[in-house]
Amino acid sequence: MDGAGLDGVAERREASNLQPLGENYKPMSQTVPGSNNTENKGRRFGGRTGEPFTFSFEDRTIEAWPGESVAAALLAAGEVVLRIAEDGGARGVVCGIGLCWECRCIIDERPNVRACMTQARENMQVQRQQGLG
Ligand code: FES
Repeated sequence: MDGAGLDGVAERREASNLQPLGENYKPMSQTVPGSNNTENKGRRFGGRTGEPFTFSFEDRTIEAWPGESVAAALLAAGEVVLRIAEDGGARGVVCGIGLCWECRCIIDERPNVRACMTQARENMQVQRQQGLG
């Protein structure tokens, strides 16, 4: 960040011939829960609710909350490498919406399960996938 704030963003957009920011544009800091913004009341912004539970990833115990995907829980726990590709490269969440298949893991002994499309469940066994699994 260059510390220029919203004015800096507007100037860069103008310089790059992009459309100017609309009058309804608000920085993220004005749309998060807990602010006085009532426009987004009732929308969920990643807040964790309910009773947490755990599942395993390799040798770790990962905490998750109801409704979270395996990928979300792993990312929140700092696990970014979810599989090792055939060429030996580390792979992890790319799209988060089930399109790229880069988040494939072994879940409960089933290979090639997309972590971003799988809801976390208590006591599930998740392993980093090596190659094609
Ligand atoms: S992150 Fe792209 S399919 Fe899961």
